[in-house]
Amino acid sequence: MSETTHLRPAAHFTARDTWLNDPNGLILHKGVYHLFFQHNPNGQSWGDIGWGHATSTDLIRWEEQPPAIPATSHEMAFSGSVVWDRFNTSGLGSGPEGSLVAVFTSACNDTHPTHPGLQVQSIAVSDDDGATWRRHDGNPVLDRGSKDFRDPKVFRHEPSGRWVMVAVEAADRQVVIHSSANLIDWRFESAFGPAGQPDVLWECPDLVEVPVEGGGTRWVLLLSINPGGFAGGSGMVYFVGDFDGHTFVADPPEPHVLDFGPDCYAAVSFSGTPRATILGWFSNWAYALEAPTWPWRSAMTLARTVSLVHTDDGLRLRAVPVADELPGAVTRATATLGVDEEIVVWTGDDDRASRVVIRREADGSLVVDRGEADPSGVHEGFHATPPIPLPNRPVEVDLIVDAGLIELYLDGGLVTVSMQTFPVPGPVRVERGEPAHQVETRRPMPT
Ligand code: FRU
Repeated sequence: MSETTHLRPAAHFTARDTWLNDPNGLILHKGVYHLFFQHNPNGQSWGDIGWGHATSTDLIRWEEQPPAIPATSHEMAFSGSVVWDRFNTSGLGSGPEGSLVAVFTSACNDTHPTHPGLQVQSIAVSDDDGATWRRHDGNPVLDRGSKDFRDPKVFRHEPSGRWVMVAVEAADRQVVIHSSANLIDWRFESAFGPAGQPDVLWECPDLVEVPVEGGGTRWVLLLSINPGGFAGGSGMVYFVGDFDGHTFVADPPEPHVLDFGPDCYAAVSFSGTPRATILGWFSNWAYALEAPTWPWRSAMTLARTVSLVHTDDGLRLRAVPVADELPGAVTRATATLGVDEEIVVWTGDDDRASRVVIRREADGSLVVDRGEADPSGVHEGFHATPPIPLPNRPVEVDLIVDAGLIELYLDGGLVTVSMQTFPVPGPVRVERGEPAHQVETRRPMPT
């Protein structure tokens, strides 16, 4: 197979020549952003999963590093998080500045000597700022006797002076919360859920304190659900509420949609950033394995800072891309899109050009349709989004197109849409309806 160079994004992370899924262990540490990720070092499909690793100083240009936590013959290393144990609470670090500690799920196979068939939580320690990792001898550190207990996200809860872990009982649609003084001994605090749609898996939770515009903070529980996503297949929702160090209580019992496109999953926040910043997997379990890219498969979303905004419907998340300056290969356009108007993203310059249609309906809602940017039929059944609710007035659109990966930030970021497409090679044009005219395009930055 030859390399699908025209589909390689410039500002969205892809692995060099392998499969990836969820981002893991996102952390800003000593001026370097670390992105670990679910990684198959042996191929372009899901399997042999361990943690890959990439670093960046600007969240745009990523450098892939050697794999961090590989699978063993008895277990794969599923999703999890990294914290800086600055004061060596674990006692496992060496050196004056503590260590980085990764908390991940050991997905044990049937040959596992002590936990066959179970999902349990384990830790690994790095004394060289994330470059190399060693598994803790006493793993696992948390076992509930469950086959579906995974995706630990750990953060420091300063008011109680402890570490807090949120993880899922995926099949029970529950988030389970544990606390610890040392990242090794964990105590059960509470469970949240089930809630929302029945018959879906809950995955990759995050509980993050988010500033409210106008003052104060609230807690947001991010959750990935599969299936049941707004645009079909897997997708993300969030709850807004309070967390007292023990229990999360949601304001309304029904969650809100985090991203209205089909391709944002497993997004979680960075540890150590001054502003709440999230990054997700730019795909959907409904078709991720079919993506016609080579020799890599799947990408990450851009990093987005999030805040909470008072709206007529209550508090809602606003997301904006962190990086304002994107490489020249990325097209970025801004426009005001009125009701009954549309924007078309064309790729290619002949009559086989691919197009994605971004259309406001008569009631103000938005439909994004990639049906003509899918030459190999990968997204069959997932081409057009359902109508995305928007206020019945013109809204601002910030549009980013990076080798077929499309991110839309609408109405100041209160609505985001992540959508991957697989266009033919060629130049990108962003046009408004008919007759065609160019939308104001930001001057490309030099690469
Ligand atoms: C979510 C997920 C996680 C799991 C990982 C395995 O996409 O299913 O729940 O830890 O992927 O790769």
